[in-house]
Amino acid sequence: MPDQTGTAKLSFAGKELELPMYSPSVGPDVIDIGKLYAQAGVFTHDPGFTSTSSCESAITFIDGEEGELLYRGYPIEQLAEKSHYLEVCFLLLYGHLPTAEEAEAFEFRVTRHTMVHEQLLKFFSGYRRDAHPMATMVGVVGALSAFYHDSLDINDPWQREVAAIRMIAKVPTITAMAYKYSIGQPFVYPKNSLDYAANFLHMCFAVPAEDYEVNPILARAMDRIFTLHADHEQNASTSTVRLAGSSGANPFACVAAGIACLWGPAHGGANQACLEMLKEIGTVDRIPEFIARAKDKDDPFRLMGFGHRVYKNFDPRAKVMKESADEVLGLLGIENNPTLQVAKELERIALEDSYFVDKKLYPNVDFYSGIILEAMGFPTSMFTPIFALSRTVGWISQWKEMLSDPNQKIGRPRQLYTGETRRDYIDVEDR
Ligand code: SDX
Repeated sequence: MPDQTGTAKLSFAGKELELPMYSPSVGPDVIDIGKLYAQAGVFTHDPGFTSTSSCESAITFIDGEEGELLYRGYPIEQLAEKSHYLEVCFLLLYGHLPTAEEAEAFEFRVTRHTMVHEQLLKFFSGYRRDAHPMATMVGVVGALSAFYHDSLDINDPWQREVAAIRMIAKVPTITAMAYKYSIGQPFVYPKNSLDYAANFLHMCFAVPAEDYEVNPILARAMDRIFTLHADHEQNASTSTVRLAGSSGANPFACVAAGIACLWGPAHGGANQACLEMLKEIGTVDRIPEFIARAKDKDDPFRLMGFGHRVYKNFDPRAKVMKESADEVLGLLGIENNPTLQVAKELERIALEDSYFVDKKLYPNVDFYSGIILEAMGFPTSMFTPIFALSRTVGWISQWKEMLSDPNQKIGRPRQLYTGETRRDYIDVEDR
């Protein structure tokens, strides 16, 4: 922890408390309430963790007011333009940009862990072909803990390192297998001669019957999508991975828990829900109808891909994604894609509407990503699995950081109990 930088005074019910405060390298100060219950017999209450810092971390910083996202201090816009995903993985894992030698060694290690145990293929056959690929990913990623017994000891730093490399290397292979299984095509093995993004596209779209050349435009766009989704501070799925890891669970099980949490439409499932919404809108003239529904308190409909717990300004990833959508669809000769036109007009209309402006609802990372993924040939069901693939490095980096914290302990929140007070059992004949 950093040195204490202040004290917060809390007075209630005749009690006067002084709570230590700490300042981050950037962002809001924190009030340490760890001893509040012991000193005053009260809990704080913050169900959605809207005002709660759950941990100390040095990996990712978000300034929601400014719309800023930094991976180890580097702005996401610069990394998306100048870096590539495996270099970003190294940065998130180790805290610095790799030298040429470090990058080569890291890429060699990851590339040679891309295959999965051959028996893992059998797990897929137990699923229905129409299972959502996230269902197969949760199961198969969790099953990795049944195969790689030499990287399950979370107290051994070397085994934590091996598990991290294995996870980054194998999740693309499993994600591609989930896709192939869902469309009834044979699995395609990794090719070590291809880079990370090209290899993923090859495993998804190659077929044994003919050669498949990866389109370099799509490979670059795929790599950028991976980078934009790599980490995002203490979001719901990362907090899930940290909480699972705090009990000492193995890394494969923790990442499987993260995948399960990401699946929800309020979180990583929003990219699939957003494209389905854009297609339901269909044409620009139907946008006002959906805007009205999003504003109607009695209608549960929300604009998918809009709004964010932290960003009260543009999500910087959405800006990069929008530029990438224009570039990729333009290069593919489908710049007049009707879904992209609806998305741009929806964004324009929403950002002129006082409801969205007053509530500071802007497009988030999920608003444009689906348009690019669909242009690449992916079905909507593969959008969240690709998000999970991208976020695996963030989950595992945060998991490693948590376990290397000497103050780490199992996460165990308390509650505001509003149920029945103590009462005696009543025999059924007396009820
Ligand atoms: C991701 O946390 C992360 O970092 C996540 C993520 C990551 O990289 O890990 O960034 C990835 O999950 C992005 C978010 C994807 N989800 C969606 O696009 C789903 C649609 N968005 C919403 O469901 C919502 O905006 C959330 C879940 C993203 C944020 O919800 P909050 O912070 O709990 O905000 P809220 O629900 O309290 O909304 C505040 C107000 C409400 O109105 P009031 O009750 O104050 O009158 O804004 C309204 C909401 O009704 N609102 C929306 C809206 N989002 C919020 N109204 C219409 N459409 C929307 N999309």
